[in-house]
Amino acid sequence: MKPKQTLYLCMGSACHQLGGFRLIPIMQSLIARHNLEDCLEVKGAFCLEMCEHGRLLKFDGSVITGLTADNITERFEAEILPRCQGI
Ligand code: FES
Repeated sequence: MKPKQTLYLCMGSACHQLGGFRLIPIMQSLIARHNLEDCLEVKGAFCLEMCEHGRLLKFDGSVITGLTADNITERFEAEILPRCQGI
């Protein structure tokens, strides 16, 4: 079994003030909805030093910025999910 991949959702103060913490349960539900619990997990991260882009995450070597509660499902399915299905 391959090791889990991790989504590092920024929990630094700037992202936190923008409500980034609200994205964790949404991301967890997306992982569950797509049956990815065995291969994908979400963790909080310290400031990823791109505060001006707010509410962002790091995954598979790249940073995904501009996340909101309204666009996270679409962004997950477009930018993260295709990179998970080969796990
Ligand atoms: S607080 Fe999120 S990038 Fe700095």
